[in-house]
Amino acid sequence: MSRKPWVGGNWKCNGTKASVDALIKTLNESDVPDKTKCDVIVAPSHIFLTHVLSTINPRFVVSAQDCNQFGNGAYTGSHSPQMLKDCGITTVIIGHSERRDVFRETDEEIGQKIALALKEGFDVVPCIGEHLAERQAGKTNDVLFPQMKAIAANVKPEEWSRVVIAYEPVWAIGTGVVATPQQAQDTQKDLREWIAKNVSEEVAKSVRIVYGGSVNGANSSELSSQPDVDGFLVGGASLKPEFATIVKNIA
Ligand code: G3P
Repeated sequence: MSRKPWVGGNWKCNGTKASVDALIKTLNESDVPDKTKCDVIVAPSHIFLTHVLSTINPRFVVSAQDCNQFGNGAYTGSHSPQMLKDCGITTVIIGHSERRDVFRETDEEIGQKIALALKEGFDVVPCIGEHLAERQAGKTNDVLFPQMKAIAANVKPEEWSRVVIAYEPVWAIGTGVVATPQQAQDTQKDLREWIAKNVSEEVAKSVRIVYGGSVNGANSSELSSQPDVDGFLVGGASLKPEFATIVKNIA
C-alpha cells in the first residue's frame, strides 16, 4: 500500500468525563507508531472536544463527528466549522450513516457541510455506505456512487489531499458482522475506479479510502492487507485499549 495508513476512532455519543480521561490515559501510554507511519484521529462527542484536545498526546489528531453547513448564527444546537476551528479542531467526520439515517441528513446537506468545512481549512472524512437489503439486491454501487457524486461535487481539485473517504456498510456497523476482506476490497476498488473516472487518476491513486464496520484487533490485519483498504474508521473498539492494537496492526 503506497498511501499512508489512516485510523480513526469514532467515539460517537459515548463516554463520561471519567471514561474519557481513562481512554486518553490509555492512548497516551500506548506505544502506537508515530505520525510518520500512520495518521490516527479520535473523534469524541463535541462536549469533550476541547478537554480531549488539551490532554491527549498531540500524536493523536482530535476530530469532530459533525459540523453544520451554515456557519455561525441562529442555528440552535449545532456547531459551525468556524467555531470548531476556533477551538483548535482541524478534522471533521461528515455524513456518518447515523447522521444520514437517524438525523435524516441528505446528500445535499452533507455536500454543503463538506464544502464549508473544506473552505474553512478542515480535513474532512465523508462517510458512505449501503444498507443490507441494498447489498443483497446487488445494488451496492447504485447506492455508493450517487453518495460519492454528492461528495465529489463539493471538493475542489486542490482540496482532495484533505479528504479521507470512509466506506462503512451500514449492515456492519455495530453488528459484529464485519465485511469480508474481499467484500471491502472489491467495494473500495470500485470506489477508486469511480474516482479515477469522475475526478482524476491522480486523486484516485492518492486518496485514502478506509473501511468501517465491526473492525477489531482480531480482524484488522487481514482487512488492512487488501490493496484498496487504507485504514479504518472504528466505533466500538475505539473505546477500548484494543484501538492501539488496530493501529499497530496497520502501521
Ligand atoms: O464510524 C465507525 C463506525 O460506524 C463503525 O462502528 O462499532 O461497528 O466499529 P463499529
